[in-house]
Amino acid sequence: MKMKENLKNGSEILVRSMTLKDLDPLMDFYNGLPQSDRRYFRVDVTNREVMIQRIKLMKSGNFLRIIALLDDKVVATGLLEFSEEEWRKHQCELRTIVDPTLRHKGLGTVMLRELYHLAAEKKVERVVVRIMRPQKAARAICHKLGLREEVVLPDYVKDITGRKQDMIIMTGDMKEFWRELEHFFIDTDWRSHR
Ligand SMILES: CC(C)(COP(=O)(O)OP(=O)(O)OC[C@H]1O[C@@H](n2cnc3c(N)ncnc32)[C@H](O)[C@@H]1OP(=O)(O)O)[C@@H](O)C(=O)NCCC(=O)NCCS
Repeated sequence: MKMKENLKNGSEILVRSMTLKDLDPLMDFYNGLPQSDRRYFRVDVTNREVMIQRIKLMKSGNFLRIIALLDDKVVATGLLEFSEEEWRKHQCELRTIVDPTLRHKGLGTVMLRELYHLAAEKKVERVVVRIMRPQKAARAICHKLGLREEVVLPDYVKDITGRKQDMIIMTGDMKEFWRELEHFFIDTDWRSHR
């Protein structure tokens, strides 16, 4: 996939599939993220070897990764993760990370919209987002897009400082998710270029 989009501030970004060739600009992006973000990530994204292994997992077909570029600089990443478990084949997990200097300009929504389209192609019926309680922006954008908090697991995971955190599992039906995404683009003067 490959598409262009204008953010709310007028910047034109390119969103496309990620490949291993993007590793250097990708590491610049990850290394530039504040510790206050990275603290709640599942893996140490600043570890190059870890990231190489994770990008290679795309070959399995269970991980679809996208990036957004502004002037050849990575400004956002997105991930769709499918489970190998038969009973979860109709679901996928969504993740996105946006450059802190470009937040609140609609980029997170654009990334989630593109992940939605990829999920729809794969006939996904339900999307899942797992976050730690302090990830307030993630929780807010998920609420805005119609995802519901299904369960809170107290002290279930540890952040990178070793502190236990509640994990929140949010899910949404694909049709509902699309309705909210569509509203977002229709209700604002900021139009989708899709
Ligand atoms: C969550 C994240 C992806 C949002 O990206 P973004 O580009 O700022 O999101 P958008 O500009 O598309 O925001 C869309 C809506 O989400 C909500 N939202 C986003 N950030 C918010 C925040 N900090 N507080 C409250 N609401 C927020 C708002 O309703 C916003 O709409 P509005 O701008 O019209 O008010 C970004 O903050 C991020 O990368 N956080 C760190 C990584 C992370 O936690 N990722 C989520 C794992 S799934």
